[in-house]
Amino acid sequence: MTSPLLTASGIRKTYHTRKDRVEVLRGINLSVDPGEFVAIVGRSGSGKSTLLYCLCGLLKPDSGSISICGQHVMGQSNAQLARLRRDHVGFVFQDLNLISALNVADNVRLPAKMAGIHASNGQVDAILHQVGLDGMGHERTDNLSGGQRQRVAIARALLRRPDILFADEPTGSLDPSTARSVMHLMRQTVTPGSALIMVTHDLEIAVTADRVVVLSNGISNDVLTHPTVEQLFELTQEEND
Ligand SMILES: Nc1ncnc2c1ncn2[C@@H]1O[C@H](COP(=O)(O)OP(=O)(O)OP(=O)(O)O)[C@@H](O)[C@H]1O
Ligand SMILES: [Mg+2]
Repeated sequence: MTSPLLTASGIRKTYHTRKDRVEVLRGINLSVDPGEFVAIVGRSGSGKSTLLYCLCGLLKPDSGSISICGQHVMGQSNAQLARLRRDHVGFVFQDLNLISALNVADNVRLPAKMAGIHASNGQVDAILHQVGLDGMGHERTDNLSGGQRQRVAIARALLRRPDILFADEPTGSLDPSTARSVMHLMRQTVTPGSALIMVTHDLEIAVTADRVVVLSNGISNDVLTHPTVEQLFELTQEEND
């Protein structure tokens, strides 16, 4: 029997602002096996990004437990968490976080560099090839199209061959045809030993996942295996009623 790459149970998170408290996650449970592609859907503001940040150890939940590749996330020091992320996790952020002062290759190299790891030109070239950006290492990211910028963000997350790739709306700002090719690339990143956990608004994309988590009112009552677009549409509509 294979062990899950990620397990999360009872994840709760409340944001406190000066005026308000927003109870975003109210007890989320999830387990992801090697080779799986899991999509997370839910209306805007339902807590998808918050959940993804908690799952990958970038944001501390108020309670609950998470383990990544058999290692507990809670109770770890910041340095231990950074090491866990460095060794096992890749993240494609909702707002890409590319640095316009750096060229494509240096953007791809940056997280490894910050973790004190040297990525050779050959490694960077190979990953740029994998995402279809051959020979573009010296381009400024400002000069790229939306789809190309998204590919840089994916290349950066893939450079260290993460066990779990987390992606927050990787196709959100792309036209349908570019979104299709980026999704093709995202799916190719899933190997028998690794997993992809992706937030998306696009139900057509969500149904191509192995399982879909529907986030509603801070809980994930519905975790569906190969649902139809109609099923997901109904569930995501219900929560708006
Ligand atoms: N740092 C924060 N401080 C206070 N409230 C926050 C913070 N981050 C998010 N929120 C609130 O928590 C809720 C969930 O936010 P989150 O970004 O996780 O939603 P989301 O499902 O990813 O939305 P979208 O689909 O628009 O990206 C929202 O109501 C948001 O306003
Ligand atoms: Mg979000």
